[in-house]
Amino acid sequence: MSTAATGHLAGRHIVLGITGGIAAYKSAMLVRLFVKAGAEVQVIMTPNAREFISPVTMSTLSGKPVITEFFSANTGEWHSHVDLGLWADAFVVAPATACTIAKMANGVADNMLVTSYLSTRARVFVAPAMDLDMMAHPSTCRNLDTLRADGCIIIEAASGELASHLSGKGRMEEPEAIAAAVERYFAARCTMSGRKVLITAGPTYERIDPVRFIGNFSSGKMGYALANEAARRGAEVTLVSGPVHPFDTLPGVKVVRVESAREMLDAARRAFSDADVAIFAAAVADYRPERVLDRKAKREHPGEGLDSIKLVKNPDIAATLGACRRPGQTLVGFALETSDAMQNGAEKLVRKGLDAIVINSLQDQGAGFGTDTNKISIMYADGRPTLEFGLKSKADVAADILDNIPTPLPSR
Ligand code: C5P
Repeated sequence: MSTAATGHLAGRHIVLGITGGIAAYKSAMLVRLFVKAGAEVQVIMTPNAREFISPVTMSTLSGKPVITEFFSANTGEWHSHVDLGLWADAFVVAPATACTIAKMANGVADNMLVTSYLSTRARVFVAPAMDLDMMAHPSTCRNLDTLRADGCIIIEAASGELASHLSGKGRMEEPEAIAAAVERYFAARCTMSGRKVLITAGPTYERIDPVRFIGNFSSGKMGYALANEAARRGAEVTLVSGPVHPFDTLPGVKVVRVESAREMLDAARRAFSDADVAIFAAAVADYRPERVLDRKAKREHPGEGLDSIKLVKNPDIAATLGACRRPGQTLVGFALETSDAMQNGAEKLVRKGLDAIVINSLQDQGAGFGTDTNKISIMYADGRPTLEFGLKSKADVAADILDNIPTPLPSR
């Protein structure tokens, strides 16, 4: 691919919208380029696009069934435009006809492509392709200006011979140039390239006997979302994870699975000395049984160990590592509070030697353990004002956190 920013498409989810123009044949090459670069591609075709290139070609190249209609003609299955829009890391419309550009600019959601466009939160790329007079028409120019103002990246059409045999501006840009534009966009977001990031996630389990433990309801979703977002930004991530249901992680994330707080501390300590950023998102059990029984205690036998369990304090991982931090490291903690969230957060920020603390209150609906959403504030040790955010998906919260913590220079 003709770009210096290689490797930034790997693992990305790309929706490729194809509309009914002769340049649709070039979209086959575009799918190939994306797939070769390691991206997953979901093709959506407008009904007219199928007149120009076969969905079979596109599904073969992308390895996924092509979507055209809201419902599958064969199975009646409903294709969720919302899910597709949210799945996308980039949404590319190539070729984009004057008609689709007009529909996108005006929200005319009468097909799967435009409906998905309206649902997506991903960056949208539009590669126009049409005859020169259509391209120059004031309505097309107006609609493209609207799309630019809406945040779309327009990949300008090139000049040359057109399908009408006229010559002028209106040729869809070459697939290599379109793929390079998308890759440059991802490269520019790689603000954590070369940084090593340590993240703790999930609960810890503290064994009572071979079948019982003390734990908590942490799902690990927030920590995993942070790890994936940091990897997306180019960081090399070590994710020290307590026992959680497995989540998908991106290639830049090394997962170290542990069970107890002490195991988590050992694994975190190993990654910490090298880390530029450490984010303590785990819900570490505060106490563990002083003694772990080597066989299952029977409930009918009081005195075997279940009727009274003596607990001892677990190490505080954040505070332990905060006490031996080196200059230039950024340390971020979490505080999940049921009352006096701000005051408790401020106290933990200082006590644990952190630079910032992410505060979520269990009193906020949709925030905290197990949910797919979170509502946070970020408080800083250097006295800058606390930031408050609305209720968002944990993936979006992860992006907010990484956007708003100081990213140190790589230490090596
Ligand atoms: O449990 P607490 O509210 O004190 O947790 C605040 C922060 O400290 C969190 O970032 C959590 O991951 C971290 N922590 C830890 N080890 C503990 C307890 C908490 O790293 N034993």
